[in-house]
Amino acid sequence: MQRGQDQSIKPIRVAVTGAAGNIGYALLWRIASGDCFGSNQPIILQLLEIPPGMQRLEGVIMELKDSAFPLIHDIIGTDDPEVAFKDTEAIFLVGSRPRTKDMDRSDLVAANGPIFVGQGRAINSVASRNVKVITVGNPCNTNALIASANAPDIPSRQFTAMTRLDQNRAVGLMAEKAGVTSSRIKDVFIWGNHSNTMYPDPRFALVEDQHATEIFDRNWLNGEFLNTVATRGKAVIMARGASSAASAASAAVDHMRDWWQGSDGRIVSMALPSEGWYGVPEGLVYSFPCKCEDGEINVVDNLEIDEFAQGKISENIQALLQEREAVSELL
Ligand code: NAD
Ligand code: LMR
Repeated sequence: MQRGQDQSIKPIRVAVTGAAGNIGYALLWRIASGDCFGSNQPIILQLLEIPPGMQRLEGVIMELKDSAFPLIHDIIGTDDPEVAFKDTEAIFLVGSRPRTKDMDRSDLVAANGPIFVGQGRAINSVASRNVKVITVGNPCNTNALIASANAPDIPSRQFTAMTRLDQNRAVGLMAEKAGVTSSRIKDVFIWGNHSNTMYPDPRFALVEDQHATEIFDRNWLNGEFLNTVATRGKAVIMARGASSAASAASAAVDHMRDWWQGSDGRIVSMALPSEGWYGVPEGLVYSFPCKCEDGEINVVDNLEIDEFAQGKISENIQALLQEREAVSELL
């Protein structure tokens, strides 16, 4: 029997919005090949675009079919969110405008925020009650908040935003500096907002079996390392002339795979509505250290916080409160 052909496993419905965009083009192939939901899990892809994107979406669907993935049972392309989200178990909210080189991510909120009102409502109406949602479209923390606020019948914990790309960037930088592969780096994670204020926390990170804080100079960790991670999105835009796409898709797969299949005891970064952890006001979609098991995200809520970390945690609270205030009419 071919991989993915176990007829006893029921297909799951997975939606991707902005499916004809740059991230979509990298993400769909990773999902379809089994990297996210497992090499035995059949999938029905439900792809959402806006009307001007529908012709490009047709081309993407042709190519997906031409890839003959054994796990793919059906592909639906639509510009109707209620069709795209119908009975979905997992949703990737990607579709939205990327920033240009002279913008901050928060400048996108006026253009992108309203998208997540309609999509939140559609998720509320038609998605599985257990749906797992990752928001990638920027500003992703606040867009996740908007989607969740408009889906009152779905527990808010099921709406997350992506800071895994920032974590992966931190891992990549540490690995390069230490001269090891990224598989040797563990438990570096991101606090707060997917914005320049984010805090990549190195205090619990291990390089092989040694503490990162013993290997790397403190000035590097709190200076160049932090700033490089926090501003990497802009650096990619300046170099590529377009925002990160393949690395963003890869991080979205990492996020959803760990949520779906477990993080194997590792700490991973996920932004989710605060339940008051570490003094973060309830409801703010904030990136915390998390571990995933049995399809659940558990915030690691007992880490020691020093003065520097507290300063960064508070700075991110302020940034997210301001973003929440700016979209109050969408909540
Ligand atoms: P893109 O412009 O290449 O593609 C976006 C696609 O979304 C387009 O095809 C567009 O037609 C579609 N779209 C727009 N509005 C839509 C809507 N209402 N419903 C469905 N589809 C819609 O952009 P991209 O490079 O794929 O980036 C998408 C988003 O992801 C941007 O907001 C970008 O800033 C963000 N992003 C986030 C991270 C992160 O780490 N969180 C990383 C990279 C990019
Ligand atoms: C990134 O971090 O690469 C994305 O959020 C794109 C951006 O605008 O920085």
